[in-house]
Amino acid sequence: MENNIHPIFDQLVSRKEREIRLGQNAKVFWMTGLSGSGKSTIATGLERTLFNRGFFVQVLDGDNVRSGLNKNLGFSLEDRQENIRRIAELAKLYLNSGVITICSFISPTIAIREFAKQIIGAENFVEVFIDTPLEICEARDVKGLYKKARSGKIKGFTGIDSPYEAPLNPELTIHTPNKTIEESVEEAVDLLLPKIQIL
Ligand code: ADX
Repeated sequence: MENNIHPIFDQLVSRKEREIRLGQNAKVFWMTGLSGSGKSTIATGLERTLFNRGFFVQVLDGDNVRSGLNKNLGFSLEDRQENIRRIAELAKLYLNSGVITICSFISPTIAIREFAKQIIGAENFVEVFIDTPLEICEARDVKGLYKKARSGKIKGFTGIDSPYEAPLNPELTIHTPNKTIEESVEEAVDLLLPKIQIL
């Protein structure tokens, strides 16, 4: 190889063998939505429910990944794209280990999510829109960030002065305002179960 890199993927234990060992089909469950839309809450509930049912599952979440692997990245569109690129590569490693991977990131643009889908593979990628209107995220303001964004203390905040593009064709839209957390988690479980169960 020209760049002196020699991947050894074909000699490793295969994804299929790992999935059989774990008794599941691996998928990447990709949640997108505004800050404060409920992604992390649904991710936590979904992870717990699937784990309790015997699945091997892992959440990757914005604030967690940004405090470690991606701590050198900010919130310009370029940095968000690099954030998502690394996360997608990480999710692919989990996927190839047979793990059901729940990704919870704003991932604000259609192009950024397309990019993630390309890395992960369309057949492995389940896109879910956590549909909570800006007014509600802002009224909740769990982390106090909308207030800071409105007063100019944070620049380039998603939904305020940085874009958010809703997905055009997600596999599921969870409209949170008229649902309990349990109902939202149940919708996610219902979508995912047939995809991850080995029949
Ligand atoms: S993404 O746009 O690159 O996908 P990510 O999901 O990793 O974002 O991180 C979003 C979290 O970072 C938010 O929930 C919020 O807590 C925090 N945050 C800090 N600054 C910003 C900002 N300018 N825009 C959006 N979220 C921000």
